[in-house]
Amino acid sequence: MLNEPALKIAQQRLRAVYDPQQFRAAAEQWGELLATHLERVQQRETRVLNWAEPVANIAEAERWLDGVSTEPSARFADIVRQMLDCGHNLHHPRYIGHQVPAPVPIAGLFDAVGSVTNQVMAIYEMGPWATAVERALVNRLGEQIGWQRDSFAGLVTHGGSLGNLTGLLTARNVALGGSWEEGVASDGAKPVIVVQGDAHYSLARAAGVIGLGTKQVLRASLDERRKLDPQKLDEQLTDLIARGHRVVAVAACACATPIGAFDPLRDVANVCRKHGVWMHVDAAHGGAALFSRRYRHLLDGVDQADSVVWDAHKMMFMPALCAFVLYRDKQHRFEAFRQEAPYLFDPSAPGMAEYDSGMLTLECTKRAAAYGLWGTWSLFGQQLFEDLVDVTFDLGRVFYEKLLAAEDFVPLHEPECNIVAFRHVPTALKSAPPETLGAFQRELRRRLIESGRFYIVQTNHGGVGALRVTIINPLTTTDDLDELLVALRELGAELLKSDRP
Ligand SMILES: Cc1ncc(COP(=O)(O)O)c(C=O)c1O
Repeated sequence: MLNEPALKIAQQRLRAVYDPQQFRAAAEQWGELLATHLERVQQRETRVLNWAEPVANIAEAERWLDGVSTEPSARFADIVRQMLDCGHNLHHPRYIGHQVPAPVPIAGLFDAVGSVTNQVMAIYEMGPWATAVERALVNRLGEQIGWQRDSFAGLVTHGGSLGNLTGLLTARNVALGGSWEEGVASDGAKPVIVVQGDAHYSLARAAGVIGLGTKQVLRASLDERRKLDPQKLDEQLTDLIARGHRVVAVAACACATPIGAFDPLRDVANVCRKHGVWMHVDAAHGGAALFSRRYRHLLDGVDQADSVVWDAHKMMFMPALCAFVLYRDKQHRFEAFRQEAPYLFDPSAPGMAEYDSGMLTLECTKRAAAYGLWGTWSLFGQQLFEDLVDVTFDLGRVFYEKLLAAEDFVPLHEPECNIVAFRHVPTALKSAPPETLGAFQRELRRRLIESGRFYIVQTNHGGVGALRVTIINPLTTTDDLDELLVALRELGAELLKSDRP
């Protein structure tokens, strides 16, 4: 134990750390630094990605931990500048990479309210407003899906992967009663999950986690547009059931990751109904299209799903992580996790369990992950989400048309949303073997992102390397898209002159 004087000195040091005046000064600096940073990034005055080798970055980050005894406010500004100067600039209009958006900046301020004051959930009384915010949003998203108020339920979780896990765990517990307590029996025909052929890897991972096994994840056939083929699904389910397999769930996509294909959900739902199988829809990326009068048809039939995953940190342009799991039938809300935790859930107020998020989620302590979304929606209204979808989905189409018009670029599909996969095929590579063409795309992308001019990603299409963009920054212009082709041509020409690939 510290002696009395030592305790006082330590508390004095701690009071300085908690000093609201110091916080106010820091917050003012913070606002100024971030606003200036956003201006510069959005004006394209910075690189997109500040690339540095991981080892160098880690060494530098560790160097900061040793601290320098400068005055705290100067040090605070230096630390924030360091974070901004070495990060990835997702607000740069030439960031068109992964399905992670340039978030609505003010959303981060609402999230910060939750972080500074540590609003958490598990039980209602720890985060009454955080819970209220989450439930209000669940109500609105469920209604966007087309469900009747009070008939459905939902929750927020830390990401689409955990959302898919939660949805599939619920499906497993419903399909295989007793499996929560007894585990999954392994003799005889094993229970299976049927997933869209291009489904996100988190679904297979979930099958491993929930004890079904990744080998019991069967891929459903896709049509020529890489959409789930309902007729083939019908045949597949008929065959599986005839062979004694329990089909725990069918997981469809709205949309699938590689090229953004939306499955024909209504037809898939009819097949699932026919066979009495749980239908899960991974709408992590495309759920927000429900806000758009022009694009909501892509999710026609999603109201028939038993569970839906919808990431607000993708196409609702929220900072990570804020993902929703929604159940059509609210009876299923407690099916995933049936654990009792007496120190948390208070029998003197049994009605409160309904509002204890820990009853619904894998997380016990859970941050107020929906503050950003709730604040943003309350500030700008629902129209914002329609605009974000319309602008970025339209830009996907514009980019596709530019690719079609260019002789040295090949779009690999007709986009349905803001995801476009393509290849750069300069004259010198017109008759190159696939492996050379694929390696060229990969090396070209590496050079592009390290140059800081653009950020795009690479993928595999038909087993051959390809380039892929997700236009997930509403500030990207058609000129930026033209410039992307220019940058790829320039770097591609340099690459062809060098001895790589
Ligand atoms: C279709 C789809 N589902 C799930 C996920 C996983 O979501 P998260 O990264 O939030 O875990 C992704 C990620 O890109 C995705 O594209």
